[in-house]
Amino acid sequence: MSRKIKIFDTTLRDGEQCPGASLNIEEKLEIARQLTRLNVDIIEAGFAIASPGDFESVKQVAEKIKGPVICSLARCLKEDIKRAAEAVKPAQRRRIHTFIGTSPIHMEKKLRMKPDQVVQQAVEMVKYAKSFCPDIEFSPEDAGRSEKEFLYRIIKAVIDAGATTINIPDTVGYTTPWEFGLLIEDIISNVPEIKEIDLSVHCHNDLGLAVINSLAAVRAGATQVECTINGIGERAGNASLEEIVMALKTRKPFFNIETNIKTEEIHKSSRLVSNLTGLLVQPNKAIVGANAFAHEAGIHQAGVIRARETYEIMTPESIGLKESKLVLGKHSGRNAFIKKLKGLGYTLEKEKLEKAFASFKKIADLKKDITDRDLEAIAAEEIYITEESYKLDKIEIKSGTTVKPSAKLSLIFNGKKKEAKESGSGPVDAAYKAVQKIVGQKPKLVDYTIQAITGGTDALGEVTVRIKKDDRIYTGHGAHTDIIIASVKAYLAAINRMVSLKS
Ligand code: KIV
Ligand code: ZN
Repeated sequence: MSRKIKIFDTTLRDGEQCPGASLNIEEKLEIARQLTRLNVDIIEAGFAIASPGDFESVKQVAEKIKGPVICSLARCLKEDIKRAAEAVKPAQRRRIHTFIGTSPIHMEKKLRMKPDQVVQQAVEMVKYAKSFCPDIEFSPEDAGRSEKEFLYRIIKAVIDAGATTINIPDTVGYTTPWEFGLLIEDIISNVPEIKEIDLSVHCHNDLGLAVINSLAAVRAGATQVECTINGIGERAGNASLEEIVMALKTRKPFFNIETNIKTEEIHKSSRLVSNLTGLLVQPNKAIVGANAFAHEAGIHQAGVIRARETYEIMTPESIGLKESKLVLGKHSGRNAFIKKLKGLGYTLEKEKLEKAFASFKKIADLKKDITDRDLEAIAAEEIYITEESYKLDKIEIKSGTTVKPSAKLSLIFNGKKKEAKESGSGPVDAAYKAVQKIVGQKPKLVDYTIQAITGGTDALGEVTVRIKKDDRIYTGHGAHTDIIIASVKAYLAAINRMVSLKS
């Protein structure tokens, strides 16, 4: 008989801690809706005490998302737990996830606490959390570098205090699969009480071992895995949800373990997270990379044509990847457009939908064939824009071999139009200088990438920029058939994030 494990998604919490991945509330809700369609068991919606914005987004996810358990992170501190409890209160099913460092280095250097004090604090805070909510997860942070005997002691104590899930984090991605699997086995044999509750794992990818460490832990008896879409997260990221789930599914005879995940929603989830965070997926990324199902070598192609299984261990359809067909054109109506967007996982509210439809019509005038990828780019842009955003009104560019590049542009902000004209080393430089003049800010451009969304010279150009201000990175995304307009849109998206998320 196979055994079922829970998938705990932390894209909106640990994933969002990735530099430049900051998401606004609308975007977080959109991702939470998609995670619900993906059928994850638990959504960690944020770290409620981190900022008023974080609190609000956890609360809104708790109010609006039905199905998965909604969870907020909290340190083992009263004010954190109180805030987390308030934020998840509206949820149908809620969880508080509290943590404290247990490795010698965390206790001595970060917490400046003795091991006994750490155990006492953990127990008190689990009891306190329990007074708000029955479902309590406890994490001994940096468990991968903690002493085993101390781990057994604190785990036993917090289970007695009421914890219903114990999560073992490899916070710094230090362990190897052999060690981590053994750690899980040892915890199970030394803390027999753990068999009555969930034993979770949470692996980071600093050595590229997050997925394999999670799988080793699951083989050893873990009943929950924490992961993120596309593996985004702190530093080198977290364990990637799609890789864990598809490894379990594809190698079912080996693992004999199942999840509740609707794998046909994986591709859509990956695209949505990439579009909204601006974090591109590397083409050779397992499962969701653009090349994951592309067969380039002639011998492979010939094999796949005769029998797919010669070179394919899973089908593109199993992750919801369909042939990217020409979907809509300039004669397509609103209903077809809405239906298609829904199918791609976007549920825009009425006003944003109208704006997205207007952009679609404009682009359809410039570009004959509108594909799924084009539509994703149009929808992703609309989700972010709010009334308080800078929007591009008009732009006029001069460039070429005989003129100094210059840009004249106007932006709308809070209903008012502002204009500027600047010259620069190229048209993008000139346009960005004009934007800086209007906005009155000069963030450092740390990254600028451009790619054609689909083939052909009329393809949408998709620009991603990363800007830096006060040590924080903000990402922006823009798409248009004119790459200068796409560049300005991406820059404005990053600036809008910077203005609204700065706290
Ligand atoms: O990596 C980690 O240790 C965490 C904990 C808060 C679970 O994210
Ligand atoms: Zn983490």
